[in-house]
Amino acid sequence: MSKLSTKHLLGIKNITRDDIDLIFKTADNFKEVINRPIKKVPSLRDITIANIFFENSTRTKLSFELAEKRLSADVINFSAGSSSVKKGETLIDTVNNILAMKVDMVVMRHPNPGAHVFLSKHVKCAIVNAGDGAHEHPTQALLDAFSLRERLGDLTGKKILIVGDILHSRVALSNIFCLQKLGAEVRVCGPATLIPKHIESLGVKVMPNFKEALVWCDVANMLRIQLERQDIQYFPTLREYSMQYGLSNDLLESIDKKEIIIMHPGPINRGVEITSDIADGQHSIILNQVENGVAVRMAVLYLLAGQTNTIS
Ligand code: CP
Repeated sequence: MSKLSTKHLLGIKNITRDDIDLIFKTADNFKEVINRPIKKVPSLRDITIANIFFENSTRTKLSFELAEKRLSADVINFSAGSSSVKKGETLIDTVNNILAMKVDMVVMRHPNPGAHVFLSKHVKCAIVNAGDGAHEHPTQALLDAFSLRERLGDLTGKKILIVGDILHSRVALSNIFCLQKLGAEVRVCGPATLIPKHIESLGVKVMPNFKEALVWCDVANMLRIQLERQDIQYFPTLREYSMQYGLSNDLLESIDKKEIIIMHPGPINRGVEITSDIADGQHSIILNQVENGVAVRMAVLYLLAGQTNTIS
């Protein structure tokens, strides 16, 4: 297979295992490209991409922009804070105005779940979801799984634990869909108030005890507490959260130094969900995730642009 089954990347839920394999195969090639002295290929030389961010971002925004530039695309960046959205313009009008300037593809982060699905029905270009509220963050899940595949090979039967604020996390949902499509078993751990009630209907078991969950897993993906999405208090204090669900070297050593891969999508709250000795330690692949993000996003953009030529 050399083409994706979809015109947009709106989420992981609606793409196939073949799509994921094709993205990974293409990303393998791009990872080789970005490690060359000349990190650029002309693949998207005639394509213009708009990065539209209605929410803050460091990693995703920079990673997409770098991916686009490495592919030789023309890039424009748009932040909602300094735009006419502030004057009451609708999302569809905003995007159609950008497309009128001959833009070919839109990468968007938006606080509303489903904003990308809605947009994809009303505009004539490929849409890439760079995060929609607490719903999906498909390229994060792809780069996470790609990074795990580099360490563990085939993910069939691998035990992946997602820890923390599952309720508000688009990373958790996209990771669950992606890892399950790749044959891994996913479980979650965190305060009961931060675990969605429907989670077991997705085939995801809840492990209330963090230490037992660590003994079970091959990989622990430590999520940030998303205080910006919490309108009520879900646990007494950050200190108590950290005591129950924070990962430290002491805790890892107390389970007989089991080999666990530690992931975090960023941004990290050091000392809350993860201590610095873990974040910067030998088990952590956090910066590999960031590095792989560029290659994976290059693959997604390249494939959505309909490119099938050999990458050179
Ligand atoms: N992982 C992630 O989405 O980080 P940013 O919010 O910085 O893009």
